[in-house]
Amino acid sequence: MTTSDKSTYELLFRNGTVVNHDGIGTPDIAVRNGRIAAIGDIDPRRAARVVDCTGLHILPGVIDSQVHFREPGAEHKEDLETGSRAAVMGGVTAVFEMPNTKPTTTSADALADKIARARGRMHCDFAFWVGGTRDNVADIPDLERLPGAAGIKVFIGSSTGDLLVEDDAGIAAILGATRRRAAFHAEDEMRLNDRKDLRVPGDASSHPVWRDATAALMATERLVRIARSKGARIHILHISTVDEIAYLADHKDIVTAEATPHHLTLSADDYARLGTKLQMNPPVRDKAHQAGIWKGISSGIIDVLGSDHAPHTLEEKAKPYPESPSGMTGVQTLVPVMLDHVNAGRLSLERFVDLTSAGPARLFGIARKGRIAVGYDADFTIVDLKRRATITNGWIASRAGWTPYDGKRVFGWPVGTIVRGRQVMWEGELVGPSGGEPVLFSEALPRG
Ligand code: DOR
Repeated sequence: MTTSDKSTYELLFRNGTVVNHDGIGTPDIAVRNGRIAAIGDIDPRRAARVVDCTGLHILPGVIDSQVHFREPGAEHKEDLETGSRAAVMGGVTAVFEMPNTKPTTTSADALADKIARARGRMHCDFAFWVGGTRDNVADIPDLERLPGAAGIKVFIGSSTGDLLVEDDAGIAAILGATRRRAAFHAEDEMRLNDRKDLRVPGDASSHPVWRDATAALMATERLVRIARSKGARIHILHISTVDEIAYLADHKDIVTAEATPHHLTLSADDYARLGTKLQMNPPVRDKAHQAGIWKGISSGIIDVLGSDHAPHTLEEKAKPYPESPSGMTGVQTLVPVMLDHVNAGRLSLERFVDLTSAGPARLFGIARKGRIAVGYDADFTIVDLKRRATITNGWIASRAGWTPYDGKRVFGWPVGTIVRGRQVMWEGELVGPSGGEPVLFSEALPRG
């Protein structure tokens, strides 16, 4: 660390390898007032503090656009403080949190309540998805533009919580009201209801038999058809099938898609080892689907990675299937699990940045985030690509306290999390106060 009285910049990152839209290089990055103030060859005497990043890669801050932090209503699983602590421990600088809380985030009041709870407690920046329902259709044009709203999220197949709009008319009414890109959980509720008897008590490996690939494809096809009829843009969360990847290739004008680390890393072979810990909606499926989603990564059909961090306690997960809830932690393991894939040659570091920073910024119209550029927020995910480490339950900051990757050895590790120029995590320690702020969207800038 270097100090100087004549400083121009609060912070200077030196000697790191910077991965950015213009390629990979070694410029210095200077920060002033939480924003990137200069990029290039910068005199260290002009900075109050210098962070030496020798041997490290500096990435634009990782944005996880799908997490469930359970507050209000299920704080025994997670809350906004513990969930965001897990995020920054894993190198994530901003999260979009889901509306299936209790009460659901389906009104301006519920959104304002979440924002009030988040301020001063969340360690990373945040936005909240607002649930679209039959009852709030008339309010959607206002709701989706409220400060702190990521947009509208709809469950068209039921999962954890009470949010569900399964019929075409209900979906059409919501898509007729949206102007921003709405996000969908796409599993066909009618097919799920018809196939409930296929669940084998005590056997979580029957989960993908019940909630099969056809249920996911049918839902995605219906959504695309309805979106097209309404001139709407949609985002399909957690793609789980090779069939959807093939189908979406013809619909990239209106559809964007998310893949999750668990669908890319785990497979049906793991039910024997993990049991209900692997139970997730949509389900983790066989290796042919996993390979199909990797094709979606390499071909560009997948636009973003989201963790779908969905914590439940080990006690809840220990209930016999199908009483066990669906969901697993993921926000803290997204970066190390995916860096391990980078080191294994499955995707480039540039594509990782595209999926976790530039991608979310492009899809959701995030202002000032998603790339390393002067005037942008100084959000960085600093990683050591050469570090080998083991993911353990003990490392997990989520209140749920477990990960399906317990014992997994990975190559590549998050070393630092910088949020608007504040060092929040460094070398596995929380080093800054919880100063998360609402993410700003260029599609919904506050007036005045
Ligand atoms: O497995 C899941 N769990 N999928 C979802 O869509 C919801 C999530 C949860 O909230 O538990």
